[in-house]
Amino acid sequence: MFSILKIDAVYFYSDFLYNISITFLQLQQYKYIGSAIYCAFFHPLSKYPGPFLAKFSAWPSFYNTYKGNRHVWLWQCHEIYGPIVRTSHESLSFGTPEALRSIYETRANVGKPRQYAVWPRDSTAVNTFACIDKIKHARRRRVLTSAISERAVRSSEPYVIQHADRWAAELLASSTGEGEWSESRNVSEWADCFVFDILCDLCFGRSYETKVPGPNKLRSVPENIATFMEFSYNIIYSPFVDVWLWMKPKGLDKLFSKLMPQAIKDYIRFVEDSLAERVKQEKRHEENNTEPTRKDMLHYLFHAKDPETGGQGYTPAELYEDADMLTVAGADTTSGVFAALFFYLIHNPEVVQRLEKEIYANFTNIDDVKSGPQLSACTYLRAIINETLRMSPPDADELPRESLSGGLRIGGTEEIIPAGFNVGSPIYVLHHDPEMFPQPFVFRPERWIVDESRSERDGGISIESVQRAEAAFYPFLMGIRGCPGKTLATIELSVTLARMVF
Ligand code: HEM
Repeated sequence: MFSILKIDAVYFYSDFLYNISITFLQLQQYKYIGSAIYCAFFHPLSKYPGPFLAKFSAWPSFYNTYKGNRHVWLWQCHEIYGPIVRTSHESLSFGTPEALRSIYETRANVGKPRQYAVWPRDSTAVNTFACIDKIKHARRRRVLTSAISERAVRSSEPYVIQHADRWAAELLASSTGEGEWSESRNVSEWADCFVFDILCDLCFGRSYETKVPGPNKLRSVPENIATFMEFSYNIIYSPFVDVWLWMKPKGLDKLFSKLMPQAIKDYIRFVEDSLAERVKQEKRHEENNTEPTRKDMLHYLFHAKDPETGGQGYTPAELYEDADMLTVAGADTTSGVFAALFFYLIHNPEVVQRLEKEIYANFTNIDDVKSGPQLSACTYLRAIINETLRMSPPDADELPRESLSGGLRIGGTEEIIPAGFNVGSPIYVLHHDPEMFPQPFVFRPERWIVDESRSERDGGISIESVQRAEAAFYPFLMGIRGCPGKTLATIELSVTLARMVF
């Protein structure tokens, strides 16, 4: 009798629990249905057009990021839905230059959204790029800008030239003779190594020569960094980004530091050792009042002062974080441009011929091929670089910004976006707008050079058309969060291309 009662009690409780969970699931379903109705009809962004599933979630955005064609998806969305597209329940994309300027200009009432906190390997070590707090960022950015100023970058140019010459020599090394083809190479991977070597040299004073064939335990680092960037990029646009951010300081960072490939662990040790060594050298020079022979980016980072307060620029931890960040921010972007540059040149031999003529008309000696008035006179070279950055901008998507309290007025429209939503203007979409760039998918450096000797129908280019193109050209973005490495990247690209052609 007692045991029957016991079994009954068990049945009763399990039945009770079952019913509670079913009710809970049903309520959850109602919650989801309620939230879907809210997102589609009553949400502040509900009036904007966009893909159906994007009204409720970040899944379409994530799916296209995962497939690796997010920029093309955004372009298609703008073709279908017009200049404003709702790309997820909390995000809008704007496809006009006026909108871009109002979102990214220095005074715009926006900040980097929480998603940027995915980038740092360690959530306690936030670099300038991932810094979300506007006041902290303003100070870091002032210091960084003074450290990679025009003067600092110019004094780093000899190191860039050494690497460019070595790379050009390696490119020719496997050719069998004059006029013969060299063996085929994967330029995308090789460009990663080339730019990584330059940045390590400039930031840490040592190069690992990953671009040179032969055994090298750090060879896979550029590729691993690219994989890490790709992975983080996927998380940023995923529907589970908030869970990820919550877990990061609660053990996820530690787990990842254990799971990371040996090459990355070696790289981190390399960064720590090289920095410690360089900092020691700089301190010695400071104590002895002597001038170091090597004045690269690290030299300027070490001596950087806050231009506003005149005080010490970086704490030791910040110096490490930003030197490490510059290697990644500078390498992953510029190397993609080199890969694209090679692609377009190989497919457009007439462009190479015109470039050769220009380089030989301006230089007679390889030693003169460096930045300065002669290189600036090479307008076709600059046009090729612009056209490559237009067609394949490394940061091709809409680089999200969060509208802050008081809202954000979007230029060229009547729209005021309330606080708390992500907005952005995809660079790839702007760069492929036929209004500003006729035949946008054709590689045509000539579009950047005024040629009024012929009519536009015969291939001439008016001043207005060049001005229109320039006003919609933002590979480095703009404003306080725009790229501070523009001068360095431009020198790397133009000097390397000119020396290679020579
Ligand atoms: C062709 C090459 C490059 C392109 C197209 C490029 C483009 C960009 C863009 C679009 C941003 C804004 C990213 C965002 O808001 O999420 C950015 C930020 C940044 N870039 Fe570059 N970049 C290039 C090369 C470099 C180089 C060589 C360096 C330095 C060595 C560098 C350092 C940075 C830093 C530190 C930031 C963050 C700035 C901040 O948040 O205040 N970049 N870059």
